[in-house]
Amino acid sequence: MKRVRVALLGCGTVGAGFVRLAQDERSRIAARHGVELDIGRILVRDPSKERPGVDPALLTTCATEALDGDCDVVVELVGGVHTAGLYVRRALANRRRVVTANKALLATHGRELFAAAAKQGTSIGFEASVCGAIPIVRALRDGLAGDSIDSIGGILNGTSNFILTRMEDGASFADALADAQRLGFAEADATLDVDGTDAAQKLRILAELAFEAPVRSVSVTGIREVTTTRTPSGVVRLVAEASRVAGGVALCVEPRVVPFGHPLGNVRNENNAVVIRGRAAGELLLVGRGAGAMPTAVAVMADVLAA
Ligand code: NAP
Ligand code: HSE
Repeated sequence: MKRVRVALLGCGTVGAGFVRLAQDERSRIAARHGVELDIGRILVRDPSKERPGVDPALLTTCATEALDGDCDVVVELVGGVHTAGLYVRRALANRRRVVTANKALLATHGRELFAAAAKQGTSIGFEASVCGAIPIVRALRDGLAGDSIDSIGGILNGTSNFILTRMEDGASFADALADAQRLGFAEADATLDVDGTDAAQKLRILAELAFEAPVRSVSVTGIREVTTTRTPSGVVRLVAEASRVAGGVALCVEPRVVPFGHPLGNVRNENNAVVIRGRAAGELLLVGRGAGAMPTAVAVMADVLAA
């Protein structure tokens, strides 16, 4: 049995989901993967918050205690760019393997961080940064490694999709957003969701994986101005699309009317969907829960086990 020591940075929606999954799946993970997960320190801001199922003795507010203590894998689930970036750089400098769900960080500093990881002989797992439980990073890296991708995109933000489909059922934008926040789907700064930024960050990560070509243009429109979610021809979805253009890739995120009968129109609530068009493989559609504690924790766990 291999003991894997995890330092967990952040114990909010996804961090708490990861702790729960590690507990729920402990014996199966040990039997199937020969791994005993040992979550050591857990970094939080406020140790007095109620965290059901989390041992309070593991909590710390001292980042260096979590980062520089004995551990094999650092799981970054703090979010944001600046502080999370400092933590990830420190973890890499310590030659720890890093797992993160932080698309904002990877979309802005990914190249630098992946180069630092390679230099230090370690790795960054980021399956959880795009589309929650959908294993899209592995699909692009492994399953489709032999194909040329012509386009990739779909519904990449669970909160926006949740809001649009709730509005379709008669809810107001404000009430639907409040529900998405209460259910743990939204970012700490929900403007990232409703303004299309989060979808654009995920699209950038997918485009890097799919095309290995420079991004030539980015156009982002969110759902704030959407007042009608159903038209005579279809339903409105926030659609993200990356496609090849001369000299690189064009990224576009915008609300679109999706015709009735189109697979994206059937994607509701916090679900995501990714459509990949491979030159040899043809069209693939992956659908699943794109946000929320447990679906995202599954993707984090996949990277921890891989590490
Ligand atoms: P969250 O609920 O806001 O949790 C953030 C956690 O980090 C909290 O435990 C918080 O401590 C801690 N934290 C924040 N800033 C800190 C700091 N400066 N020092 C120490 N601890 C700090 O966020 P989340 O929804 O779990 O998201 C975490 C990451 O996963 C983000 O990058 C997000 O984009 C990504 N993600 C989220 C989802 C989702 O469905 N929520 C899905 C995919 C990816 P306290 O608990 O004490 O406040
Ligand atoms: N806020 C994000 C969303 C979380 O709603 O899609 C998952 O990345």
